[in-house]
Amino acid sequence: MDLTGFRRLNLFSRPTPLQELPRLQKAIECKPRIFMKRDDLTQSGLGGNKNRKLDFVMAEAVSMGSDVIITWAGVQSNHCRQTLAAAKQLGMECHLILGGEEPAAKQGNLLYFTILKANLHFVPGNDDLDKVARDLAEELKKKGRKPYVVPIGASTPLGALGYVESTKEVIEQGAQLGMSFGHAFLATGSAGTQAGAEVEAREKCPSMKIHGVSVSRDAAQQQKSVAEVANGTYALLGIDKTVSPDDIIVHDEYYGGQYAVPTQAGNEAIRLVAETEGILLDPVYTGKAMSGMIDMLRRGRLDDAGAVLFFHTGGYPAIFAFADCFQE
Ligand SMILES: Cc1ncc(COP(=O)(O)O)c(C=O)c1O
Repeated sequence: MDLTGFRRLNLFSRPTPLQELPRLQKAIECKPRIFMKRDDLTQSGLGGNKNRKLDFVMAEAVSMGSDVIITWAGVQSNHCRQTLAAAKQLGMECHLILGGEEPAAKQGNLLYFTILKANLHFVPGNDDLDKVARDLAEELKKKGRKPYVVPIGASTPLGALGYVESTKEVIEQGAQLGMSFGHAFLATGSAGTQAGAEVEAREKCPSMKIHGVSVSRDAAQQQKSVAEVANGTYALLGIDKTVSPDDIIVHDEYYGGQYAVPTQAGNEAIRLVAETEGILLDPVYTGKAMSGMIDMLRRGRLDDAGAVLFFHTGGYPAIFAFADCFQE
């Protein structure tokens, strides 16, 4: 898909690397070759998938003349980390609304927020952080500021263009190696990553099935969210197509039923990838997604493909807040 008409910031170098993981394949004893799209290496804010979305979303904030960024998520949010980094690079003030109590010890992403001097607002026991963000924006407007609210995960159709592009890159990188991927796995939460990947894969490589491993919701809810953002993305691109929730593949059996609560299989997947390939995943998103892909590979469920792909969407800085899970 041609994205040249969309304003962007070029926050990181593209394309990110595509890396084969032969030692992981050997350890799993699976038939398909395993490749990883290293979107953890999008430099800004210690890397991750949000940079791809923010490249477009923050460009909109700049074009609107905004001088302060507001966003919200959990206390250990990767989205907040990358949004904060982008705001700092643009010389903007940044307010992070964090759903939870203020922890006594600042670790992982929270340490990062503290060092970069974000304006932190801890909001325990309130599910409507979106409203808290909008109220803060109104308050700042009254003081003559120009706030821009980035929705959670930057998962708007504009943000999803980031994953249209990542998927375009990886299809091209695969083709240069004479490969096409039968299955691609990613962690899915606020849905923009999978939505963008779906749109590009359906256009340019329909044989590549996108598997979202849910990190927070049951499959039906997540399929609906992904389809909604994907359809908004089609509309933004001027493509007269839609997907229905039933067209979207989501696995909800790998997150353990609770967002941000590590699973044993997820932590084992983190250790296996680290030991075999020297790459760190995280216990909230990529570790759980990898545990899903490994399980399906071990059960031979992906053997119809010569190669499978894993989108490394970042998140590893949060692992330092989960040190207890990894003490021998
Ligand atoms: C490391 C990581 N991977 C995957 C995701 C999920 O992406 P999305 O919110 O676009 O579904 C997130 C979201 O916060 C994330 O931080």
